[in-house]
Amino acid sequence: MIDKIFRILADIDDLKASNPEEFEALRIKYLSKKGIVNSLMSEFRTVSPEQKKEVGLQLNKLKNSLQERINELKKNIENSQEQSTEFDLSRTSYPIALGTRHPLSLVKEEICDIFKRLGFSIAEGPEIEDDWHVFSSLNFAEDHPARDMQDTFFIQSSPEIVLRTHTSSVQTRVMEKNQPPIRIICPGRVYRNEAISARAHCLFHQVEGLYIDKDISFADLKQALLFFTKELFGKDTRIRLRPSYFPFTEPSAEMDISCHICGGKGCNICKHTGWVEILGCGMVDPAVLENCGIDSSIYSGYAFGMGIERITMLKYQINDIRLFFENDVNFLHQFQSAF
Ligand code: DAH
Repeated sequence: MIDKIFRILADIDDLKASNPEEFEALRIKYLSKKGIVNSLMSEFRTVSPEQKKEVGLQLNKLKNSLQERINELKKNIENSQEQSTEFDLSRTSYPIALGTRHPLSLVKEEICDIFKRLGFSIAEGPEIEDDWHVFSSLNFAEDHPARDMQDTFFIQSSPEIVLRTHTSSVQTRVMEKNQPPIRIICPGRVYRNEAISARAHCLFHQVEGLYIDKDISFADLKQALLFFTKELFGKDTRIRLRPSYFPFTEPSAEMDISCHICGGKGCNICKHTGWVEILGCGMVDPAVLENCGIDSSIYSGYAFGMGIERITMLKYQINDIRLFFENDVNFLHQFQSAF
C-alpha cells in the first residue's frame, strides 16, 4: 500500500486541468467519496499495527497534498476565466490599418527639413496678432488693401487685433527679440477673408524664411532657393526670378519653377507657359530692420514666403484646395509617409 501512496505522491505536481470539466473529473477521481483517497483510507484498516504509523503519516501527507493541488488548479481555472472576460470581442480583427499623415503636414515637414539642412531653425508666432506685427512693422502703408476688412479678419478694432494674414509677422517677432545672425523658417496657419473656391480658402498655411547677417546678398537668396527647389521637386527643376513688389522687401521677386509636370513644354498646370509660380521673396527692406531694432548699416538679409497648399497641390497634382480641409479618408489614405 505504501508503494501505491508514494506513486500517487510523485505524480501530484503533474496533475493538470485546463477547463472546469477536467478539473471536476480530477476532483472526483481523487477526493470524492468513492475517490482514491477514501478507498486508501478503507484499505488503511487492513494495515498491520507495526506499519500503521508510517503508512498513516504518508496517507495524511497524500491527502493534504492532493487537496492543495486541487485548490491550486481551481484557482488557475478561475483566473483564466476572469481574464477571458476581459477580451473585447467587438474589436476589429488584425491587422489594424495604420493612419496616414495629412499631405500638408508631410510637405511642411519636407520643406522645413530641407531648410534645416541649410542651417535654418524653426520659429513660431501667434495666429492672433496685432496690427504692428502683421502690417505696420513690415512697411504696409496706412491705406494698403490688406488692411481692409474685405481681406483681413479683424477681431478687435482698437487696438487693432487680427488673424494673421501671413507668417511674415513671425519675422518681426524674432528680429525684435534677437540680434543677427538670424536664420529662421516659420511654418504656420494664416487667415484671409476670401470666398472659398477650388483655388482659395479663408484658412491656409505658409512657410516664411528669414536670414539676416553681415554681407547677405541677393545671390545668397537665389542659391538657397535653387537648392530648396531641386531638393523638393527634383534635380532637373530650374528656377526663374521675376521682379515684383512686397512692402517689406526691396528689391522683391516672385519665383517660378520649371513645370515639373510637362518639364517646361507647356501643359494645363503651367497654363502652357512652362513655368509655375511658387513663392515671393526679396531683400529685407532696411526700414523693416530698423523697425525691429536691427542696424541696417551693418546688417542685411533676405526673406521669402510660400503657401504650403500651393506647393502640395503642385507636387501631388491636386486640383481643389478644399480637399485639404474635408478630412475625407479616401483622399487622405493616398498619402503614405516614411516620417
Ligand atoms: N507675406 C507674403 C504673402 O503672404 C509672402 C512673402 C513674400 C513673404 C515675400 C516674404 C517675402 O518673406 O519676402 O503673400
